[in-house]
Amino acid sequence: MKLFIDTANTNHIKEIASIGIISGVTTNPTLIAKEGRDFQEVIKEITDIVDGPISGEVIGLKAEEMIKEGREIAKMHKNMVVKIPMTKEGLKAVKTLSQENIKTNVTLVFSSNQALFAALAGATYVSPFVGRLEDTLHDGIEVVADIRQILDIYNLKTEIIAASIRTPKQLADAARVGAHIATVPYAVFDKAFAHPLTDKGIEAFLADWQKAFGNKG
Ligand code: E4P
Repeated sequence: MKLFIDTANTNHIKEIASIGIISGVTTNPTLIAKEGRDFQEVIKEITDIVDGPISGEVIGLKAEEMIKEGREIAKMHKNMVVKIPMTKEGLKAVKTLSQENIKTNVTLVFSSNQALFAALAGATYVSPFVGRLEDTLHDGIEVVADIRQILDIYNLKTEIIAASIRTPKQLADAARVGAHIATVPYAVFDKAFAHPLTDKGIEAFLADWQKAFGNKG
């Protein structure tokens, strides 16, 4: 299991990367727009921070537009992955780009059929949106588990990125059902690191040590 960070905020990326637990980054147009910075500039900075797959998303809706944008994104850095929405036009673009050895991440996946189609088109990654499914009372984790089962049965090499992770529980569940990767927002990382018993335990160890030895050692 690998972890990516789902943000275009380079301070957040630097902080989590410095801990040593992330190996990639995913962005989307909303996340880039939130930073209010130029796409190329943000991506360049991210590639300097993390040496691993970095997803940048296309904006076009027609296959030809996505292919053109995808080639540009791929040219930006060797680690770039072209993020493409799960549509018929999107899959045509995935097919062409994968034949050119350009890595793709099919995004906005909400069902196992969509993931299967993306895998057959040659997607490097598929991103089921766990949080958005669960927002509408669907079982996002079951979708991830179904996709994993299908990929394994047919020995398809596409990797699952569990995306739209909103809670530490969704992250733990995605890991449990075999997502190859989870892309996690900064706020969820922050929550998942902490446990009240860890803090309480550290306090008690320190207090006991100081009672016995003062401030020595
Ligand atoms: C996927 O890679 C997307 O960037 C992201 O996970 C979407 O999350 P949201 O549903 O919280 O916007």
